[in-house]
Amino acid sequence: MSQANPRALAAQALSRIVHDGVSLRAAFATFSTTFSDARDRALLSALLHAGARWWLRFDTALTGLLEHPLHEREPQVHALLVLGLVQLEILGLPEYAAVAATVEATRALGKPKFANLTNAILRRWLREREARNAALDADATTRSAHPRWLIKSIAADWPDHADAILAANNAQAPLWLRVNSRRITREELAAKFAATDIEVELPEALAQALVLGQSLDVTRLPGYADGWFSVQDGAAQFAAGLLDARSGMRVLDACAAPGGKAAHILEGAEVDLVALDRDPQRLPRMLENFARLGLRADVREGDAGDPSTWWDGRHFERILLDAPCSASGIIRRQPDIKLHRRASDIPALAAQQARLLDALWPMLAPGGRLVYATCSLLVAENAACIGGVLARHADAAGRRVPLGWHAAGAGMQNLPGEAGMDGFFYAILDKSN
Ligand SMILES: C[S@@+](CC[C@H](N)C(=O)[O-])C[C@H]1O[C@@H](n2cnc3c(N)ncnc32)[C@H](O)[C@@H]1O
Repeated sequence: MSQANPRALAAQALSRIVHDGVSLRAAFATFSTTFSDARDRALLSALLHAGARWWLRFDTALTGLLEHPLHEREPQVHALLVLGLVQLEILGLPEYAAVAATVEATRALGKPKFANLTNAILRRWLREREARNAALDADATTRSAHPRWLIKSIAADWPDHADAILAANNAQAPLWLRVNSRRITREELAAKFAATDIEVELPEALAQALVLGQSLDVTRLPGYADGWFSVQDGAAQFAAGLLDARSGMRVLDACAAPGGKAAHILEGAEVDLVALDRDPQRLPRMLENFARLGLRADVREGDAGDPSTWWDGRHFERILLDAPCSASGIIRRQPDIKLHRRASDIPALAAQQARLLDALWPMLAPGGRLVYATCSLLVAENAACIGGVLARHADAAGRRVPLGWHAAGAGMQNLPGEAGMDGFFYAILDKSN
């Protein structure tokens, strides 16, 4: 098989994502190494994101077009055909180019006997697309390309916003950066970008944020290697301010890897920061990020829910728990969540979040503050979880989160796409003296 055809590689990668539970990020990291040309990598990325985002629609569409199902016998050809439909309907490629390139990719895949079938299926779709699209739009799952359990959960938790959430999940997210205020001001950084014809917005609500309309390879932007900035969505950039860690304080980031919020805290104050994470594979990336940004932290591997293995018994004045969660608020960035997450994951995650909160609470100094954050929009992981902590710990009090977001129990919720940001939840818990 030729290794240089982006569509053929995208079909292989998408098949791994859909059938083997491989994350889009991991699949892209593996398959993109084949290409030295940035345009090929960009096409692979666009195909994988749109393919995962719209799989539930065009997988059903393809099944309706085929006389004999392909997904078990020939999963890569099946994925290639789904990508053909995605190129026609979502990426807006000219019909001739999309069909010809997809037919060509059957050969690159080493499956030339499917070239005629591919041509016939895509041409049939083009003849019948209006009626077939109307049929797909009649069902919520194929209309929104979300699994039924998630549509129901979103409708139950956010009844007035459900359609807007599903639409935002299928939109492309802007690229947010956070300037490293120890190295450069954001106005200076914006001027450096403008000198290379990259225009940015400087949102008022966040002092260190820059927003780029287009997505691009940030490692090629001026100042990346010098640690002038990091990639971080706007919603995540509120964590450091809410934590209010001041110089000299002892701070715990309990779920820190890859270190985005920990780095923001360190950029803002001279704190004594323990950056903990349970996953040893995620620690090197965190260390690399701190080194690039010129920051120092006490990086440890450990389970935040089992302090006996890593805690020295000294209290923290500030704790950030950026908890493992369903990531249901960042589907626009990681559309494979729609394919990989199951309804049964949610109670298990909520139990894990409660376990971490209960284990961390005794480590917080009297008068201290804990900030709880998730990139979920589900009540079970957010308001209900915090409600449980407040009920179990008499010395815990919820503080109003000063963000103009949706009130959600003792916390605040941003819904995906609002203010251009990800879906995110914050709660602030103060401990009495
Ligand atoms: C949402 S991510 C954290 C993102 C990070 N705070 C940032 O801003 O870059 C959640 C992290 O929690 C870690 N994690 C999950 N369970 C954990 C546990 N029991 N103890 C410590 N870390 C845990 C995961 O390995 C993952 O790196």
